[in-house]
Amino acid sequence: MKLAERIGGIELSPTFRINATARRMAASGVDVVDFSVGEPDFPTPDRAKAAGKAAIDRNFTRYTANEGTLELRQAIAAKLEQEQGLSYGPEQVLVSPGAKASLYCAVMALFGPEDEVLVPVPYWVSYPEQIRLAGAKPVPLEAREADGFKIKPHDLDAAIGRQTRGIILNYPSNPTGACYTKDELKALADVAAEHDIAIIADEIYEKLLYDGRTFTSIAATGPAAAGRTVVVNGMSKAFAMTGWRLGYAAGPKKILDAMAKVQSHTTSHPTSISQVAGEIALRECAADVSRMAAEFARRRDAIVSWLAKIPGLTCVKPAGAFYAFPNVSKLFGRAIGGNVVQSGQDVAEALLAAARVAVVPGEAFGSGSHVRISFSCSMERLEEGMRRIAQAVS
Ligand SMILES: Cc1ncc(COP(=O)(O)O)c(C=O)c1O
Repeated sequence: MKLAERIGGIELSPTFRINATARRMAASGVDVVDFSVGEPDFPTPDRAKAAGKAAIDRNFTRYTANEGTLELRQAIAAKLEQEQGLSYGPEQVLVSPGAKASLYCAVMALFGPEDEVLVPVPYWVSYPEQIRLAGAKPVPLEAREADGFKIKPHDLDAAIGRQTRGIILNYPSNPTGACYTKDELKALADVAAEHDIAIIADEIYEKLLYDGRTFTSIAATGPAAAGRTVVVNGMSKAFAMTGWRLGYAAGPKKILDAMAKVQSHTTSHPTSISQVAGEIALRECAADVSRMAAEFARRRDAIVSWLAKIPGLTCVKPAGAFYAFPNVSKLFGRAIGGNVVQSGQDVAEALLAAARVAVVPGEAFGSGSHVRISFSCSMERLEEGMRRIAQAVS
């Protein structure tokens, strides 16, 4: 049986792959420190769990509106108004089964054949693949390590060509943790407005921001930005609700209507139960979010100081999210556990074999000089994993 041509250029998510190998090793009794995970290690807040259980008990188990329940969309609109001063009506909000699904609806609604979409590198693994699935072309735009993995307005200006229709920005970033300031976002939005391109802003790590930084959405930098931006966010990272599958998008009505059409013929909506839990999470679980963010901050400080002590590794300090993205290129040509390494992929494989530590090769994010370490695990496991890495590379 012949498969569709479009699937030829698509890879299975590499983060899932590494994670599967680590789980297999663990299942066979090997003590693996798994730094490949992309989800909080905390339980979902109690109130959100209780709301989900209650939703089942009161038989709130049928189809909801395609866009998501009005109550949840109102809660999302209220959040965006309170935190960012953005005023969206509930009709400008679409709730989806995960931010990944929100992003897919946005990409499908905005881009098609002949269109080019800028993707800053390093990028989150699914952006280029979703753009390809839409029949459009992802165009890499280097976010230089020397610039803290952030693109500059003149980089954006120079990268926009005749076919460019949009850009996907992600701040704080998976995998680098980099986050733009309000002024930086305003400058990028001005360039996007000048060239009339769309912005998809993936803000799923907004609540995990360190050193007292405050988060600004690019849509909140002015009307020109708001009029061309689809804000994407979700419950997975801030509320430790990855398995509930709940994400959302907000933006100009014309785009959101188009996204709703895509959703109406694909996933329909997230489960009714998750939507109730998500609404309570947004309305009542801010203290849980702060507690988790404080613990991530503690781990971020620890990993940054441990990484600094390992010769051969350099790391831009992550401003947010729960990943460190050390540059491992100084190790190239050396042996780890008897294997000479020449790439991020080699380093990741060698660390798994020699140190029983799972990290994600930077290649998954468009950089062969890095590996991604997730610090979404207990401080004890973090320390143990870093000790093993230090030993393996020394
Ligand atoms: C940058 C980024 N965006 C979106 C997602 C998708 O999140 P979900 O579909 O669980 O809401 C992830 C998950 O890893 C992510 O890292």
